[in-house]
Amino acid sequence: MKTLFINTCVREESRTRKLAEHYLAHMEGEIIEINPVKEGLYGLDWDMLKERDSALAKKEFDHPVLAYACQFAEADQIVIAAPYWDLSFPAALKNYIERVNCVGITFDYDEQGRPFGMCKAKKLVYITTAGGYIIDDAFGFGYIKALCENFYGIHDLSYYKAEGLDLPGTDIEGTLQTVMRQMDAAWQ
Ligand SMILES: Cc1cc2nc3c(=O)[nH]c(=O)nc-3n(C[C@H](O)[C@H](O)[C@H](O)COP(=O)(O)O)c2cc1C
Repeated sequence: MKTLFINTCVREESRTRKLAEHYLAHMEGEIIEINPVKEGLYGLDWDMLKERDSALAKKEFDHPVLAYACQFAEADQIVIAAPYWDLSFPAALKNYIERVNCVGITFDYDEQGRPFGMCKAKKLVYITTAGGYIIDDAFGFGYIKALCENFYGIHDLSYYKAEGLDLPGTDIEGTLQTVMRQMDAAWQ
């Protein structure tokens, strides 16, 4: 069992990472952690797009420009930790997604032009924390869910969120503990 842990937490004292670590402590097998923030992943530029298209056309699946996509497609399970930023998640996660979405590796199109998934993983877990109350899931978990269901073919999705952590009077530790108990319950 190979779990890919996509850690896009930025702050040293990240509460989102703390929740993710609690979840991952339940897991057996190999955990491969990548951190698009620390790796300084930027969005696809023109040179990289050309390089990627050329590697895909020649089926050079060991080309470095396809490395994130291949790693994602080969994982047995995916865990994403992403703080709720600007109604969404840190830009590094979007930049990472641009590397992962490769036709012929993580998804492809059938003759009717409908996308179908090519990822080994059946399950994806999305973990976030928010300063206030999440106004709309559409741009955070909802976006990842749409990618999973439309492109990757991953349909077993779990979503954990701790909200209100920056609001005055919030019992931060208590709120995190509640989510950790939800995680524990899911493992029973
Ligand atoms: C750049 C930035 C943008 C944020 N945007 C939002 C937001 O749109 N809504 C919200 O409720 N909290 C927002 N917050 C607060 C974070 O969601 C909150 O502090 C979260 O717990 C941070 O996660 P962390 O402890 O893992 O770093 C933002 C924080 C930062 C630093």
